[in-house]
Amino acid sequence: MMQLFDNPASPFCRKVNVLLHEAGQTGQVEIVFAVGHPLAPDQMPLHQNPLGKIPTLVRDDGPAIYDSRVICRYLDTRFGAGLYPVSRLWEVLTLEATADGIMDAAVLMVYEVRSRPEELRSADWVEGQWAKITRSLDAVESRWMGHLAGKPDIGQIALACALGYLDFRHADRDWRAGHTALADWYAGFAERGSMTATVPTA
Ligand code: BEZ
Repeated sequence: MMQLFDNPASPFCRKVNVLLHEAGQTGQVEIVFAVGHPLAPDQMPLHQNPLGKIPTLVRDDGPAIYDSRVICRYLDTRFGAGLYPVSRLWEVLTLEATADGIMDAAVLMVYEVRSRPEELRSADWVEGQWAKITRSLDAVESRWMGHLAGKPDIGQIALACALGYLDFRHADRDWRAGHTALADWYAGFAERGSMTATVPTA
């Protein structure tokens, strides 16, 4: 059976889990709990992924693969989930990249506090990360709402996981302010069974 190195707080891992639920294939993957960060990597999949990052998928028919974009595309192909529509492929992949960038910035904000001593933390740097997020949310709100109205795809899944992570770790920032169309879309998407089954936990 395939093994997924996974953490229930990680939005990147959530993408993979949401895809498995959407494809009805959760039974095909054994979940292996992994925890850590660059200064405490010991419990991360260092032997399977030299970057020591999650998610990492150990396949039953080949070497381990990573990162979440590669894993999601592999599983979609393997299970024929149809989350990469050919006619909109570059838009879908760009939306996924935008959502992954939101996750990256949001996770870096958490790591700044979690893994750095207080005297080395930079409030300006944290605000620079948040600025990336708000610019991206503005872009989605002004350019992507038509796309979000369509059938679910990997871009929508990634975006929903990114917004779920903002609620989970940055609720005080109130991302919904000024993004009401996006907030309305997310309220609906968050009710999908794949989303309610993968709500992040610490
Ligand atoms: C978190 O606790 O926020 C987290 C855990 C794993 C990966 C990314 C974020």
